[in-house]
Amino acid sequence: MQVFKDFDLRHHNSFGLAARCAYFVRIDDATEIPQAVDMATHLGKPMLVLGGGSNMLFTRDYDGTVLHMAIPGIEIYSENEDEVIVEAGAGVVWHELVLWAVAKGYGGLENLSLIPGTVGASPIQNIGAYGVELKDVFHKLRGYHFDKGFMEFDAIACGFGYRQSIFKSELKGKFLVSAVFFRLQKKPSLKTTYGAIQEELEKLGKSDYTIADISEVVCRIRQSKLPDPSTIGNAGSFFKNPEVEEEAYARLKISFPDMPAYPAKTGFTKISAAWLIEQCGWKGKVVGHTGTYAKHALVLVNHGGASGPEIWALAKEIIGSVFDKFGIQLEPEVNIIS
Ligand code: EPU
Repeated sequence: MQVFKDFDLRHHNSFGLAARCAYFVRIDDATEIPQAVDMATHLGKPMLVLGGGSNMLFTRDYDGTVLHMAIPGIEIYSENEDEVIVEAGAGVVWHELVLWAVAKGYGGLENLSLIPGTVGASPIQNIGAYGVELKDVFHKLRGYHFDKGFMEFDAIACGFGYRQSIFKSELKGKFLVSAVFFRLQKKPSLKTTYGAIQEELEKLGKSDYTIADISEVVCRIRQSKLPDPSTIGNAGSFFKNPEVEEEAYARLKISFPDMPAYPAKTGFTKISAAWLIEQCGWKGKVVGHTGTYAKHALVLVNHGGASGPEIWALAKEIIGSVFDKFGIQLEPEVNIIS
C-alpha cells in the first residue's frame, strides 16, 4: 500500500482535470484493503474509490481519501467443457481483459472492447455497449464492505439495471470491489445485430466470423465516433439515455417522429440522449475550453485547460435546454464529485 498526501489527480481522471485530493492510497493487493479503509476512516474524511477515473467529473479538489484500486491479475478460476470462469483483479485495465479473453478464444467480452476504465469499476455501472451488458457475462464479485468485511455478491445481489447496480445506490460509499469473476464461453455465439456491427463485419470480406473479428470491428466503430481520452479529455457518454414512460413517449413521437427510441424496462422507452442534445444545437459546439464532441453529441470534452466547474456548467446548460425543448430530464452517467 502506498500513501500520498495532497495528490494531483490529473493522470487519474480521463477528463484530465487538475483536481487534487487530500490523501491518495494505492492498493495493489486485496489484503491491504482493511488497513487502507481503517486508515481512511481514522482520518475522518470522506472516501472515494477510484479505478481508471474514466467515469468521474471532479468539480473541485477532493478533501478526502482516494482509494485507488490497482490489484492486478487475470486467472482461470474454474472451467468445464463449455465455459470458463475467469477471475480478474479490480485494477486490471478493462480492454486488457477483453484482449486476453479474445486471444484465448473465450467469448462474451468482445462486444465490450475498448471501453475505458478498469475491471473493478465495470459492475458499478453495469457497463454496456453494442448489445451486451456486463450482467450478461457476470458470475460474481468479491469485495470489502466497510462495516462487514470481505463479501461476495452474485448477479441478483448486485441488482443490475441500465447503468445501475446496488453499488451506486444502497452500497454507495460503503463497498469496494477487489475482484470480478466472468462466465465466458468456449464455443462462443456471436452478437452481431446491434448498430453497425454486421455492416462492418461484411467489409472484412469473410464468410465466417470469430470473436476477434467482432472485437476488431467494435474497436473500429468506437474509434470512428468516440474521442480517445489520451488525446481529448472525456468520460464517454456524459448522460444516460433517458427512460420515459410509454405514454410520454407516444406524445413526444407525434411532435418528433424521427426521435430514435429503444426498448427499455417494462412500461418505458429509452430515448437517445445524443439525439436530444443534437436537436438542441449542441453537437460539436465549443464553449470556452469545453464543448461536445463533433462526432458524438453525448460526449462532453476538455479541449485543453478546462476546469471541472466549467464542464459541469455546460452539462447543466445542456440539461436545461433538453428539458425546455422536450420536457425530459437528462441524468449524468458520469459520477459528479462535488
Ligand atoms: N445520435 C445522434 N447524434 C449523435 C450521436 C448519436 O443523434 O451525435 C443518435 C443516432 O440516432 C444513433 C443513436 O443516437 O443511432 C445511438 O448512438 P450510439 O449508437 O452511439 O449509442 P448511444 O446510445 O449514444 C450507448 C452507450 C455507449 C455505448 C453505445 C454503443 C449510454 C449512455 N451510452 O450510447 O456507452 O458505447 O451505446 O452501444 O448508454 C458510455 O457509457 O460511456 C458509452 C460510450
